[in-house]
Amino acid sequence: MTTATTTTTPNLMNALQYDAYGGGPAGLKHVQVGVPTPKTSEVLLKLEAVSINPIDWKIQTGVLRALFLPRTFPHIPCTDVAGEIVEIGPQVKDFKVGDKVLAKLTHQYGGGLAEFAVASESLTASRPPEVSAAEAAALPIAALTARDALIQLAEVKLDGTGQPKNILVTAASGGVGHYAVQLAKLGNTHVTATCGARNIEFVKGLGADEVLDYRTPEGAALKSPSGRKYDAVIHCTTGIPWSTFEPNLAEKGVVVDLTPNASSLWTAALKKVTFAKKRLVPFVVTVQREGLEHLLQLLKDGKLKSVIDSKFPLSKAEDAWAKSIDGHATGKIIVEP
Ligand SMILES: NC(=O)c1ccc[n+]([C@@H]2O[C@H](COP(=O)([O-])OP(=O)(O)OC[C@H]3O[C@@H](n4cnc5c(N)ncnc54)[C@H](OP(=O)(O)O)[C@@H]3O)[C@@H](O)[C@H]2O)c1
Repeated sequence: MTTATTTTTPNLMNALQYDAYGGGPAGLKHVQVGVPTPKTSEVLLKLEAVSINPIDWKIQTGVLRALFLPRTFPHIPCTDVAGEIVEIGPQVKDFKVGDKVLAKLTHQYGGGLAEFAVASESLTASRPPEVSAAEAAALPIAALTARDALIQLAEVKLDGTGQPKNILVTAASGGVGHYAVQLAKLGNTHVTATCGARNIEFVKGLGADEVLDYRTPEGAALKSPSGRKYDAVIHCTTGIPWSTFEPNLAEKGVVVDLTPNASSLWTAALKKVTFAKKRLVPFVVTVQREGLEHLLQLLKDGKLKSVIDSKFPLSKAEDAWAKSIDGHATGKIIVEP
């Protein structure tokens, strides 16, 4: 069996990897390693943009070692990438060399902080020319989490045909939150959002109907200025107890917890076994090509935008890593190999 390839792919590439848990930005080492070879149903991408998600550096801390993440050391982190296909495996049907695409790599093997990466055909989607590589790479984990939490748990119909709903988005200025506000507004919703004072106008610009500064007493209490009770909360930050959510929820309100911890998992279990009407539900996104294609279409149609906080070259990727750990990005952090 043969693979289709271009003649210009080098044998070695620049990448950043870590070889043990911990270390933060200083644990990332610049290395030259072999360009990976696509297996049967994989494509090799020359990367143009990679986005950083909090899960990338959380895996480095070792917090998910019980789930065997990462699978091996050394590990090249990051999974959300956009680039051009330069080689395809023999069973690849939907793509050809030269196609511009977006792909989601696996957390087990990563591979994103590099000049080239292999992606599964099933988690690759064609990138329309209207969408830049950075705008596309920003999407997979962040936008799909917002989309699927809204559709599956908040029961918002993104074509606007659903029942009216009141939605709260916490940390609306961040990677997930800025997509959640925009996508919620495609549905038939009233959106309340929390963010820091410096981002209030930004979040209003995304479409939020009312915005709370999370450092004020009203913001900390999550109280809707117009007195609304929330049908669903897309909860993109941490440290807010159930007792703060509970009085702000509608009769059957649900809090979708994107960063579950022991305490929130306990609350969620308790709500479930007691058949409570107001619920806390942990949610972890499962990336599928159909979702990526939907998001790319929304970007192409101008119904959604990826806001880029900052861009870093691969030679400075450790600074992008540090910025994500710092937790104060407005939108998405991008590395350009
Ligand atoms: N379950 C899943 O499948 C899934 C998927 C994606 C992400 N996540 C998790 O979801 C969380 C958010 O991810 P992300 O990519 O959106 O993070 P992010 O982009 O790093 O979020 C940064 C933003 O959060 C804001 N912020 C921080 N604390 C806040 C608070 N208490 N109230 C309001 N805003 C606050 C910051 O504003 P200031 O600068 O003003 O502080 C900043 O703009 C992370 O814990 C991540 O691991 C889970």
